[in-house]
Amino acid sequence: MNNKSKQHTYDELLTMADGLLDGEDDLISAMANLCALIWQTLPDLNWAGFYRVKQGGLVLAPFQGKPACNRIAFGKGVCGSAWAENRVIAVPDVHAFPGHIACDGASRSEIVIPYHNPDGSVAGVLDIDSPRLARFDWIDERSLCALVSRFERQLKQCTD
Ligand code: SME
Repeated sequence: MNNKSKQHTYDELLTMADGLLDGEDDLISAMANLCALIWQTLPDLNWAGFYRVKQGGLVLAPFQGKPACNRIAFGKGVCGSAWAENRVIAVPDVHAFPGHIACDGASRSEIVIPYHNPDGSVAGVLDIDSPRLARFDWIDERSLCALVSRFERQLKQCTD
């Protein structure tokens, strides 16, 4: 996929996300639809889903793909590192990332985007895996951050 069609795919994904999130105040419902949307729209993925910060760790939330680790500790794996460092982490080759947690042996590259509570603390992460090396570039990162911003706006209205 060239950059233009990739951006076009993301533009459509963001428009569909706006429709799915509109007026929704249930967190699980919003997360479930967003990861299904990612799964259906983006090529070359083997896992897409959310973890929530809960009881001092990351706890598995709605996702698409194979069953995954229920809990990830602060600072562990790509997800726990993105939480601890409060930044997007894109890993072109998961085998080269020290401490990578292999939930699905098919994963070769991964991107993790933290999302935040209204007070700025990390509320959880969006984790997306691919069976292709270096699957996630700057267009993916910028567009997925835009998606997470929309989700954060919605979080403010969520009751759970
Ligand atoms: N690979 C992640 C664990 C979560 S699964 O990929 C769904 C990590 O290293 O944190």
